[in-house]
Amino acid sequence: MADALIAGINAERLTTFALREAKRYAAARPKAKKALDMGADAFLSGVPLHWMKDWPMPHLPLVAKAKDASLTDIDGYQIDDFCLGDTGSMFGHSPAPIAKAIRHQATRGLTYMLPTEDALEAGRLLQATFGPFRWQIATTATDANRFAIRVARAITGRPKILVFNGCYHGTVDDAMVELSNGKTQNRQGLMGQVADLTLGATCVEFNDLAAVEAALQTGEIAAILTEPVMTNSCMVLPAAGFHDGLRTLSRRYGALLIMDETHTISSGLGGYTRVHSLSPDIFVVGKCVAGGLPTAVWGLSEDTAQRYEVANAARAPGHSGMGTTLSANPLQFACLVANLSHVMTAKNYAHMEKLAERLAHGLTAAINRLHAPWHVVRVGARVEFICAAGPLHNGTEAALAHQPQVESAIHTALLNRGSLIAPFHNMMLISPKTRKRQVDRLIAAFDEVLTDLFA
Ligand SMILES: Cc1ncc(COP(=O)(O)O)c(C=O)c1O
Repeated sequence: MADALIAGINAERLTTFALREAKRYAAARPKAKKALDMGADAFLSGVPLHWMKDWPMPHLPLVAKAKDASLTDIDGYQIDDFCLGDTGSMFGHSPAPIAKAIRHQATRGLTYMLPTEDALEAGRLLQATFGPFRWQIATTATDANRFAIRVARAITGRPKILVFNGCYHGTVDDAMVELSNGKTQNRQGLMGQVADLTLGATCVEFNDLAAVEAALQTGEIAAILTEPVMTNSCMVLPAAGFHDGLRTLSRRYGALLIMDETHTISSGLGGYTRVHSLSPDIFVVGKCVAGGLPTAVWGLSEDTAQRYEVANAARAPGHSGMGTTLSANPLQFACLVANLSHVMTAKNYAHMEKLAERLAHGLTAAINRLHAPWHVVRVGARVEFICAAGPLHNGTEAALAHQPQVESAIHTALLNRGSLIAPFHNMMLISPKTRKRQVDRLIAAFDEVLTDLFA
């Protein structure tokens, strides 16, 4: 009988490789292990955020400091960081203009629920960077999406959002649905969810305009909420004409189009929307928009903003259900101004794009040399290797392409060789501070790992 293969790799070889790499990691980080043994018990499940359990290493490293595109851990390793806080630090750790803005604001008050002159400058810069939207400031992209959905429902008077199978828009309850045998259902694994989310959401496959139209024809859809590229389901690119189709259909059936650019901000200045001349009704971006300080923004097109004003004037007095106390604080404005003026620049994007292209090329060369049945996708500064043949067309294909056992082993092996990539999938980001030698080290490590697994 032929040996079992996982993503083209001999299963036995994969197990041996994974065990060896896990052992090597554990042996190299005694200080982190000791500190965790002494202190992690204070946290639920031993971690301050339960997502940290998703890193594949035998135990977590503890970070001593981070600067530019490097982390240093308490065991003394300097690590090339391609995870970059899963986009929060896409412009590098503590960019100098952001650190300066924080220092400056630190002595002037941190939160007071009133705007500053910086706020007005941030508004101007947001319009110059992303387009003539009318902006609101939130703290997380999750919140920004929640508020965008509220507005869409309020101004259309319709109950549902349309999302794509395999999407992720933060921990927005409304979007936590999936397709099962062609039907929308609550996603499996939701903790403590008692609501029937299908009352407020319909799920179809990405790149399926016929299914989008069928959903819109019900007249129930307030908005389509989508990323320009599905970045959270491996990486699924839009088919030619898909975005034009979404825009045409949403207008035809009176639904709004919300573009969540929280990850596709990697595409270039102004995000995928500006690079590809899209025209959403609501634009959302978070994570790195203020250089790593917790901030998100959501903006309404002029027409949508006018409809919002009408709906807002007509609603009963009482709480809108939108907003959080610490949002739109002066520290956020200071960091937004610094980031949009000095960090999120065309020059920096050019550097990011160039090195990301180099990385994608190097990874593809290794995959081709070893005849691995895998592929690589790049969206500007964002690169992902996928342990299956491509291209992928939708969330169902992406779910099948995901190979947790292979990916965990590779992530640990890459870290043993000095490179950190994102834990939930195989994503790598290039920052303005990432250097060519770091990219080349990652390519060499990937090549070595693949040689071990496939040769
Ligand atoms: C596309 C997209 N939107 C929104 C979010 C939510 O961001 P946050 O966790 O900062 O709220 C994420 C998080 O990964 C995301 O990938």
